[in-house]
Amino acid sequence: MNYVTFSPHADRENAMDTISAVSQMAREAIRKYGADAVINSTMGECQDDKGNLMVLPTVERLLRQAPVTDICAYAPMGGIPGFNEAVQISLFGQIEKRWFVESVPTPGGCGALRHAVWNFLEDGEAVLSTDYHWGPYREICQEHNRRFCTFSMFNDAGKFNTEAFRAAAEKILEQQPRLLVILNTPANNPTGYSMTKEEMERVMNILRRLAEEPTRKITLCLDVSYIDFAGSFEESRAVFDAIGEFPPNMLVTLVFSMSKSYTMCGMRCGAIVCLSPEKAAAERFKQVMSVSSRATWSNVVRLAQKVLVEICSDPALKQQTDREREHFKQIIDERGALFLQAAREAGIVCRPYDHGYFLTILCRNPARTAQILQKRQIYVVPMANGLRFSPCAVSSEKCRKAPALIKEAIEEVEEIDANSRF
Ligand SMILES: Cc1ncc(COP(=O)(O)O)c(C=O)c1O
Repeated sequence: MNYVTFSPHADRENAMDTISAVSQMAREAIRKYGADAVINSTMGECQDDKGNLMVLPTVERLLRQAPVTDICAYAPMGGIPGFNEAVQISLFGQIEKRWFVESVPTPGGCGALRHAVWNFLEDGEAVLSTDYHWGPYREICQEHNRRFCTFSMFNDAGKFNTEAFRAAAEKILEQQPRLLVILNTPANNPTGYSMTKEEMERVMNILRRLAEEPTRKITLCLDVSYIDFAGSFEESRAVFDAIGEFPPNMLVTLVFSMSKSYTMCGMRCGAIVCLSPEKAAAERFKQVMSVSSRATWSNVVRLAQKVLVEICSDPALKQQTDREREHFKQIIDERGALFLQAAREAGIVCRPYDHGYFLTILCRNPARTAQILQKRQIYVVPMANGLRFSPCAVSSEKCRKAPALIKEAIEEVEEIDANSRF
């Protein structure tokens, strides 16, 4: 090909990730056949039953009435005044007392993941995550020359596979002195699974034991992007109660996303957050992450930060926003329940789903099944180990209808695959 001058590392095969590619196909189908004829279960944005983007009314009001300086002015690299406090109020309900907390704004949770992958590992080292994960985890690792390793997320009982986690973490530490573990819980994308407090305690115990070798550096990055869509406030925050104490060669960081908690996907704001037993370490974290921001995207949209600070510094406004979100959460939970009920009736098997935007349907040949579904104007995301369906973006009626159609496609593929073996 002429006029292509990329260096080899940049000149990659699949320019568009699977989710974006299938999503584009779904949008084209909607243009051609109309929204009623298409099930678009590809996006991670909340949509109402008519297909409109769901935005928290308080967030919309604050965005629309913002003065131009809040829209156009630069923001400080480490966040506008009150940002760190607002993140804590959002995540913990109060200024956190168990740890020293520092937060640096990032373009969405995606930016926070980038900062973790870049700043806690060396060139060529491996990140450890679950086999069921958000696709861009792998791409962020590739972009930064990190290997992406996974372990089996579920054991035979459909619970978090602590043993597989332990084995994979030990194996990585035989090859490198640093370990970065990314776990997306509660309301995991793509399964909707929420780790229990006990499961998180076991993970922390394993990490603490691995950190007994003092030359190791161990970072746990909890991607809690969906925390506000994972049951009650107390239920969803139980993971934090499991963290407890950890030694000086360990750190716990969080990925915070305003795309999900504040329905501001396009405003590109989130944060990387550190929980540290030591003030000086938290301050160092803030410096290092701020420099990393300067060297990549510079500062982060001021208006999004401003909205967060306004909401979280005013208890009445916070309550109002929480009430509005509660309503969104109920809609998604109801759709999830409708899908699961219809899935049981149709005889398709899903990974354990507790709450959240997505669920995973098990099938032998996800790519082929997704293709067959596309021909019937049903767009789901094929993964290596199943199909991702999005109760957050699909109407209740379609959530009820989809499982039987998915079952048909699964059976059709199984039949084709069985015949092709002869
Ligand atoms: C698991 C997970 N983490 C992080 C993100 C980042 O989202 P954003 O960058 O929009 O905050 C997403 C988005 O879909 C996600 O699914």
